[in-house]
Amino acid sequence: MSSILTGITTSGTPHLGNYVGAIKPSLGKIKESQKSFLFLADYHSLIKQQDPELTHKSSLEIASAWLACGLDPKKTFFYRQSRVPQIMELNWILSNTTSKGLLNRAHAYKAAQDLNAEKKIKDLDKGITAGLFNYPVLMAADILIFDADFIPVGSDQKQHIEMTRDIALRFNHIYGEIFTIPQAHISKSIPLLLGTDGRKMSKSYKNYIELFSDEKTLKKSINKIVTDSLLPGEPKETNNSILYSYFKAFASKDLLKEVEIMFSEGKGWGELKNELFILINTELESFRNKYFFYLENQKTVESILIDGEKQVLTIAEKKLVEIRKKIGIRSLDEK
Ligand code: ADP
Ligand code: TRP
Repeated sequence: MSSILTGITTSGTPHLGNYVGAIKPSLGKIKESQKSFLFLADYHSLIKQQDPELTHKSSLEIASAWLACGLDPKKTFFYRQSRVPQIMELNWILSNTTSKGLLNRAHAYKAAQDLNAEKKIKDLDKGITAGLFNYPVLMAADILIFDADFIPVGSDQKQHIEMTRDIALRFNHIYGEIFTIPQAHISKSIPLLLGTDGRKMSKSYKNYIELFSDEKTLKKSINKIVTDSLLPGEPKETNNSILYSYFKAFASKDLLKEVEIMFSEGKGWGELKNELFILINTELESFRNKYFFYLENQKTVESILIDGEKQVLTIAEKKLVEIRKKIGIRSLDEK
């Protein structure tokens, strides 16, 4: 069957959005897939922030989160993007077949330009790095080097996977078939988990709920989820309710029906938040100690990653040799 691949940027503490959009669906799908590649997008993180200590700390946290949630390094290739230089080499090769116009349309780049426009800054590119502009190409390199075809992500990454497809098709058209065309896998029920303030939950905003905190902190974060001011006893709408969207992300179908009844019968927000806390805590409880174990045992995590990196380096190099041949870069005495 398929090859799964996904990455998480090492730009902060893993949160529930990363769990719902990437971690849970990837680990769920591994059993049915032929190969799986899960990695720390540490070079990607430079696009979002340039705090060396944060990058370092986040790398350990994200690796620990993957392992705590059940990633089995014997069955999955688990590695750091920065330890696979072939990805960077492919990034350059792909930059030369990718049109600038495609990258002009990338949401992340356009959002940065829009911010300048809002601030009435004349040069719309002010403060925008070449790294941000090139973001989709590096992401394409991550995926195409391993011929991955099944990419579990949140809906915020949909455009990037579409661009990867465009980039692959164009390369294949110019140089001949070499890349597998990947497909995004986005949850239908929760394409994007909202933050406590109703915007996308993100490491870049202060609106996220940490995936692993102690119970008290989890409870406190859930209590911060914004609701309207309806009182206990007053029926509540599930439509447009941030709280309900969390139930949708974590509850079984049957439980969700019960929750809908609680909403329509007017259960108080406080009680509903408590129900949500119990639900999320029950799911994460068994992983929590493992997470803190790995955080304390950096050497163990490091050696797991080094093992994974040894394996993927061979696969990446083999693919890159094929790619170099396609573009005419081979030994001079080779026909
Ligand atoms: P962040 O936006 O917090 O920096 P990343 O960009 O590193 O997170 O995202 C890593 C993975 O987690 C991607 O697949 C992304 O789509 C997913 N993800 C991030 N935030 C959310 C969210 N709020 N809901 C669903 N998936 C998300
Ligand atoms: N850019 C993704 C994000 O910020 C992370 C990422 C990097 C990724 N390379 C990838 C996700 C390849 C899937 C496949 O969320």
